[in-house]
Amino acid sequence: MAERPKLTTTAGAPVGDNQHALTAGPRGPLLLQDYQLVEKLAHQNRERIPERVVHAKGWGAFGTFTVTNDISKYTNARIFSEVGKKTDLLARFSTVAGEQGAADAERDVRGFSVKFYTEEGNWDLVGNNTPIFFVRDPYKFPDFIRTQKRHPRTNLRSPTAQWDFWSLCPESIHQITILMSDRGLPQGPQYMNGYGSHTFSFWNDAGERYWVKFHFKTRQGHKHYTNAEAQDLIGKTRESYQEELYGAIDRGDYPKWTLYVQVMPEEEAENTPYNPFDLTKVWPHKDYPLIEVGEMELNRNPDNYFAEIEQAAFSPSNVVRGISFSPDKMLQARIFSYADAHRYRLGGHYEALPVNQPKCPVAHYHKDGLLRFFADNNPPDAYYEPNSFGGPAEDPKYLEPPLRISGDARRYVQHELEDDFSQARALFEMFDDGQKQRLFNNVAEAIHGVPEEIFERQMNHFEAVSPDYAKGVRAAVEALPAKDEKMKTQMDMDRMAVHPKQGG
Ligand code: NDP
Ligand code: HEM
Repeated sequence: MAERPKLTTTAGAPVGDNQHALTAGPRGPLLLQDYQLVEKLAHQNRERIPERVVHAKGWGAFGTFTVTNDISKYTNARIFSEVGKKTDLLARFSTVAGEQGAADAERDVRGFSVKFYTEEGNWDLVGNNTPIFFVRDPYKFPDFIRTQKRHPRTNLRSPTAQWDFWSLCPESIHQITILMSDRGLPQGPQYMNGYGSHTFSFWNDAGERYWVKFHFKTRQGHKHYTNAEAQDLIGKTRESYQEELYGAIDRGDYPKWTLYVQVMPEEEAENTPYNPFDLTKVWPHKDYPLIEVGEMELNRNPDNYFAEIEQAAFSPSNVVRGISFSPDKMLQARIFSYADAHRYRLGGHYEALPVNQPKCPVAHYHKDGLLRFFADNNPPDAYYEPNSFGGPAEDPKYLEPPLRISGDARRYVQHELEDDFSQARALFEMFDDGQKQRLFNNVAEAIHGVPEEIFERQMNHFEAVSPDYAKGVRAAVEALPAKDEKMKTQMDMDRMAVHPKQGG
């Protein structure tokens, strides 16, 4: 047998015994001077960090992005500089609502995050498997998430809260329709598309700006579970996505996606019949056709899940030269929120952790604090800016062209300005009869039993999309068996709290 490396303390001293505690006599008690034991127990107590406040359950892998088509007329981002160029990346997929131990095959939106380690810094595209979202104003995000998480009293998920919120936010109907359609429950990360969802921007050397949307299309084909199939599967394994993704990469069956963009010249945004920065809307393909850009392949499993996936910090604020933001209010809020979450979850210098470290030189003036383990390459006297001692300096070639903005500062009420139903209708009309029936059934199973007032408010939204949608859902609800008294759901409990006597 090969000689094993010496076991040491964290201070590097070789350890003589890692199996037997130091005691006064064979029966104990312990001696406090058994520092190794103290260290072992203390480390165990610190092995957990807070889970992500959303998207806690996830699966990830490393891979490569290869450019297949030249889009350098739109952007000077180095990642797209020539056909054939390869860039390393990390992808993490996730469910939104469940905790870290949640079952994988649950109906939920899936996160689709990619960190591209480009030669000019990390570019993070932190999207979902849906091209749109439930709400378009960041004020609504924390409340929306609260309705997806557990009820404060019962500690159970609450369909009443979910449908109450959705029925009061008609802009959510488009995303609800995707979530409740076949694509709301993919069979694994490799069987779904990914979307940057927001409108971002590209800019080029001439200082021209284009609005852009990113689409990853799966090459494995779309595969989904019905609710019944998922229920059966969860009884057998709660980790089906980890098994799918890890297993595929382990046996060399590398998942691939084609990356496309939709591109809109800057001034056209003034003239589209919809707000192109509204996260509840897509840009129709016939107006803005997909332009192929490249291929993403996942080809390496992490060696350590905690170090490389749990400690991965994705943030929409991580953009690079040639790629930038848009006025989308949700995106603007996310620019703040993620880095803030990482500082709390991982610590101030989280970008120095190996998985987050850029694969290009890094030189800044942020200094001390927790996690200050990285080497400082600046000359020793250059610890402030500006300085005369050769410290890192700015370069105007990386300056983004000016962004034209205008308008009165006001809290705009979006419902008065937007059409929330046409695009949901376009989606609904795309479904064949089988897809529609499964949509009705999925909605019915989710909404069955919510208080009448909430149910009817939501039915009005289905009606506004299509009378057939409302009719189908109503019929599917009526076809469901009455709730089993012994299997009281959260909805029943919610009602008991409001009307304790009626609830019995
Ligand atoms: P198109 O016919 O050109 O495109 C339809 C799109 O719908 C395709 O991207 C297809 O993805 C996708 N799709 C198919 N089934 C589902 C589903 N169950 N859930 C979500 N997406 C699905 O039409 P338009 O561009 O005019 O869009 C019509 C509607 O399609 C939109 O209102 C929107 O709801 C939906 N959609 C549009 C997208 C866009 O960027 N324009 C992107 C995704 C959805 P695939 O090619 O992978 O099968
Ligand atoms: C994770 C906030 C909207 C996709 C997170 C996290 C926060 C957050 C705080 C946890 C980050 C961490 O601890 O690592 C917000 C806010 C939003 C918003 C404030 C709106 C105002 C969205 C939208 C999308 C999205 C619209 C997709 C288009 C994701 C994904 C993750 C995530 C994929 C997991 C990232 C990972 O894999 O580590 N979000 N989010 N979020 N969010 Fe959002």
